[in-house]
Amino acid sequence: MSDIENKKSLRVLHFSDIHVGIQIRHMGWKRWFSKRAVGAINLLRGRARYFDEVEEKIAAIVRLKEEQNIDLVINTGDYTALGLETELELAKSFVEPLMTPPQRYLTVPGNHDIYVHEGNSHYRFSEQFCSVLQNDLPEYCRGGHWPLVRLVGENVAVVAVNSSRPNPWPWRSDGEIPSEQLEALSEILADARVKDRFVFIITHYAPRLANGEPDKKLHGLINADAFLERCKVLQKGAILFGHIHKTYQIDMKGLSVPLICAGSATMEGHEGLWIYEVEERVLRSKQMKWNGSAYVSAHP
Ligand SMILES: [Fe+2]
Ligand SMILES: [Fe+2]
Repeated sequence: MSDIENKKSLRVLHFSDIHVGIQIRHMGWKRWFSKRAVGAINLLRGRARYFDEVEEKIAAIVRLKEEQNIDLVINTGDYTALGLETELELAKSFVEPLMTPPQRYLTVPGNHDIYVHEGNSHYRFSEQFCSVLQNDLPEYCRGGHWPLVRLVGENVAVVAVNSSRPNPWPWRSDGEIPSEQLEALSEILADARVKDRFVFIITHYAPRLANGEPDKKLHGLINADAFLERCKVLQKGAILFGHIHKTYQIDMKGLSVPLICAGSATMEGHEGLWIYEVEERVLRSKQMKWNGSAYVSAHP
């Protein structure tokens, strides 16, 4: 483990939406119901082929972490296609090398990880990722593990809020941050242990698209405006997310911190991720792309 306390700068790798899927023939017939059946048919139609080389690409991310001396890894969800237990297990086995030490890996579930409305869908994600869900300020928890706060060295904090929930209807894939979590977010940002740090706020859903507009109602973060309003007090930090399979960074009027979407690290033709460096509470972000065998700078 790098000695973060004494380091002048912190290096962060942010990736998302790897969408590990099992082959359709491995799915038990009992699984073919409700939303999952529609998801499965979409996969059969050809979406799955865009994620054919997931394992190879994640292996490249593991190499990148070493080569780039990464101190902290952030994943903003959508590990799977259908939220099946087998997919979560497989995805976890791929990313496990990135989860050491566990206190230097931060994550939230994506909507695909809790795909159908089942009593245990959140539990299944937590079960797989429990080793990296430790919370340095658990007194702010307002449901499950969230918000989750990690204090990193002396100068950086990560606050993870959960915006994913099971969607009862197949044509809907919208998200919402529960109001209790938004209230807790404000309290966390005002906490003396957090407020003078550089703060990464992470969630799955995109509060804004690459053009600065809100996402479509049935696909977006329903309470994006309320979320961004709460983020306005933040002077040094960044808001990180995925869900949109496009890698982008935007600034917004009234916000001191950038909005950064990791896109999908593995979707063929769209692969992207970010490497950040935080030094004296200043962020430098470097967009990376896939060149067929490795992730390289998108703007050399
Ligand atoms: Fe996704
Ligand atoms: Fe998503």
